[in-house]
Amino acid sequence: MFKVICCAVDQVIPLPSAYSCSIFTMEKPLLLYIFVFHWHFLNALFTVEAPQSLYTVEYGSNVTMECTFPVNGQLKFRDLSVSWEKKDEFRKEVYVLLKGEEDFSSQHSDFKGRIKLLKDKLNFGQSLLQITDVKLRDAGFYRCLIDYRGADYKMINLKVKAPYRTINQGVVSTGDKEWKLTCQSEGYPKAEVIWQNEKYQDLTDKANTSYETGDDQLYRVTSTLTIKSRADEFFHCIFWNEELQENTSAILYVADSAEDILWTKNRRFVGAILIVTALFGSVLLFTLCIRKELSKNEDKHNCRDVSFEEEDLKYKQVEKT
Ligand SMILES: *[C@@H]1O[C@H](CO)[C@@H](O)[C@H](O)[C@H]1NC(C)=O
Ligand SMILES: *[C@@H]1O[C@H](CO)[C@@H](O)[C@H](O)[C@H]1NC(C)=O
Ligand SMILES: *[C@@H]1O[C@H](CO)[C@@H](O)[C@H](O)[C@H]1NC(C)=O
Repeated sequence: MFKVICCAVDQVIPLPSAYSCSIFTMEKPLLLYIFVFHWHFLNALFTVEAPQSLYTVEYGSNVTMECTFPVNGQLKFRDLSVSWEKKDEFRKEVYVLLKGEEDFSSQHSDFKGRIKLLKDKLNFGQSLLQITDVKLRDAGFYRCLIDYRGADYKMINLKVKAPYRTINQGVVSTGDKEWKLTCQSEGYPKAEVIWQNEKYQDLTDKANTSYETGDDQLYRVTSTLTIKSRADEFFHCIFWNEELQENTSAILYVADSAEDILWTKNRRFVGAILIVTALFGSVLLFTLCIRKELSKNEDKHNCRDVSFEEEDLKYKQVEKT
C-alpha cells in the first residue's frame, strides 16, 4: 500500500524500492491521480488476474498475453484505463488506453507497429495484448494495469527463444586425407557445439567455435572441425542449447570420391556444350544449303546428304569425349 501511495511524492523524493513508483510518471498525471485515488478506496473490491504468468514463445512468432478484471454488467469504456508496460532498466510503455481512448504518443520505440490490444475482449473483462513478430529484446517482465472502478495490476513474464533449427554444413578437403568440416546455425541463447564421429566419440576439443551477434541479438555460431579421416566416414555436429535443454544435430559425410564427382559433373557439362554446338552447326549448315539451293537451283538430294553427314560427324565426336 505504501509503495503505491509514495508514487504521488516520488516525483520529488526518489525511493529505492524496486517497484517503487514507476507505475505512472509525470507524463500521465491524470492516470496517476486516478490510480492512487482508487487504490485508496476501492482496491479491496477490484482485482486483476493473470491466468498465465509465464509465456514462452519463439522468436518471430506472435504472442497474446492476458489479464482479466471484473466488469459486472455492461462495460463503460469511458471509465476504463488500461496500461501495459515493460519493466526493463527503465520503464517502457507498451500500450495505454486512457479513459477509453488509445494513446500511442509515448509508446516506446521498441514496440512501434507491433502492438494491438484486442478491444472487443475488454467487454468480457479481458485485457489481451498482442505482440507480433516477437523480438529477443521483448523478453522480460510486463506489468498489466487496469483502472476500472478500482485499480490493480499483475506481472507477466515473457520468455523468447530461438531454436537452432537449420544447420548449414560444409565439407572441404585440405589435402592428404585431412578435412575441414563446418557447421553453422543461428539461434538464442548461446549454444555449445559438440562434435562426434561415427562411434559417438567426442571430438569437440579438435574444433573451433566462434560466436557473432547482430542487431537482432541472435547468435551466429560457426564451428569448424579439422580432422584426418579415412574416406566414407560420418561425423555429427550437435548444437546443445543448455538453457532450453534442446539439441539440434547434423550429419556430415566425408566422401573419398568427392573429386571424382566434380570431374564427372564437368565432363557432362563439356558434353552438353558439344551437343548444342553440333546441333546449332547443322541447323546453320542446313539453312545455308537451302539458300544455295534457292539461288543456284542445285540438286536437293545432295544438299541434304552433306548436312546429315556433317551432323553424324559431330555426334561421333561427342561420343568419343
Ligand atoms: C502474426 O500476426 C500478424 C498480424 O496479425 C499476421 O500477419 C502473421 O501471419 C502472424 N504470424 C504468425 C507466425 O502467426
Ligand atoms: C581456432 O582458431 C584460432 C584463431 O583462428 C586459432 O589460433 C586456433 O589454432 C584454432 N584452434 C583449433 C583447435 O583449430
Ligand atoms: C544433448 O546432447 C548432448 C551431447 O550429446 C548430451 O550431453 C545431452 O544430454 C543432450 N541433451 C538432450 C536434452 O538431449
